[in-house]
Amino acid sequence: MTKKPQKKTTHTIWGGRFAAQPDALMVEVNASIDFDKRLYHEDITASQAHAEMLGAQGIISKADAKAICKGLETIRAEITAGKFQFSKTLEDIHMNIESRLKELIGAAAGRLHTARSRNDQVATDLRLWVRGQCGEIDRALMALQDALLTQAAQHTKTLMPGMTHLQTAQPVSFAHHLMAYVEMFGRDRTRFTDARARMNESPLGAAALAGTPFPIDRDSTAKKLGFDAPMANSMDAVSARDFAMEYLAAAAITATHLSRLAEELILWSSERFGFIRLSDAFSTGSSIMPQKRNPDAAELVRAKPARITGALITLLGIVKALPMSYGKDLQEDKEPIFDASDHLNMALAVMEGMLRDMHVFPEIMAEALNAGYATATDLADWLVANLNLPFREAHHITGQVVALAESRGVRLDALTLTDLQSVHSALRADALDALNPATSLAARQSFGGTAPAQVKAAIASARKRFINKKGA
Ligand code: ARG
Repeated sequence: MTKKPQKKTTHTIWGGRFAAQPDALMVEVNASIDFDKRLYHEDITASQAHAEMLGAQGIISKADAKAICKGLETIRAEITAGKFQFSKTLEDIHMNIESRLKELIGAAAGRLHTARSRNDQVATDLRLWVRGQCGEIDRALMALQDALLTQAAQHTKTLMPGMTHLQTAQPVSFAHHLMAYVEMFGRDRTRFTDARARMNESPLGAAALAGTPFPIDRDSTAKKLGFDAPMANSMDAVSARDFAMEYLAAAAITATHLSRLAEELILWSSERFGFIRLSDAFSTGSSIMPQKRNPDAAELVRAKPARITGALITLLGIVKALPMSYGKDLQEDKEPIFDASDHLNMALAVMEGMLRDMHVFPEIMAEALNAGYATATDLADWLVANLNLPFREAHHITGQVVALAESRGVRLDALTLTDLQSVHSALRADALDALNPATSLAARQSFGGTAPAQVKAAIASARKRFINKKGA
């Protein structure tokens, strides 16, 4: 049952033409203050830029502009200190602030909304907020790259099984494996930088949708807020949310990359692999099984793309088929954006912490490598290089050598020269050397390959390209 509309008072801000108060349910469905209060900082900064511009253009008096800006600063302090009384009947952050401004400075507060609408106001606030997040995420990604580089520098000679299909393929160094993520996260950073550059135009001054008859100066407000320029079309300005879509798309890709690394940490720290140990600080125990050591933090990071990609899908769904220009549908954009941002920031910080604390067991990695006949390709390559055999034939001979090792239950490099020659008489002693994992690693000198010299160069290059480089 809904409450009966009351007759007496109407909405303080837009109630002029209304005889009755909104239904309690209307207040409930309409209010966004519970979540858009997070935009208070951006809302106040944008309002101050607008008020100063109105004063400078002679649209309001300089004295009123000054009083407005000062009052807004008081409100910023009140909200920051947790002393502000938010009200649901005042719907959103914009009207909560305006209403308080009236209490503080009186009638002049009513002049702030000249030549402006909540439509361009909220579009501006959200752009500023998302723009700020691009910087935050960039910094977190750089810190994560730094943690990976620090680990990588210790392990350019640490052998591990490089895998395809999660089956042992060829020896790689642990550093080389970690460096793959440094590159991925580097590209992720450029996606935020690109998105930030495109979103950096100001919607402010578009007013409700059509612009305003007042002689406003959109260039000056854009400049004050750090935007490159005002948006060129007022209808586009109030209704566009593709800037947030791009941000969420970049966030979804980053979260997906994080989940791959999280999954590897989970596998590596399991008893079956035993390659690494996650620190106590990033593990949990079981309430029933005393022996358990669970990688909960990594598992939670593994799960994050679900909600972050979900946020992107939600926003695409909200904007899909929305006719020009603003629709209240757009109020629904904020919660998924905030949620995705919070969880991405958290996941990045947690991943960085896990990596910095991670303990590596090189002997166990090397052992796993030997069990998997990882140097078989090296023997095939030796046959091609030394006996000039076609690769397909070399592949076949090597397959027979692997079968021999398997039937004996030994590692490839435990076979003798006589063993090798029983398969192919032209095999020589240096073919045995090719079966050594460290030789295999050192041989992969091609650019981007796993040879220690290459990986050292890759680490140096990555430090130069990524660390202390300002992105978004
Ligand atoms: N709270 C609204 C939002 O988030 C602000 C804009 C309201 N505009 C309007 N015409 N009712 O989108």
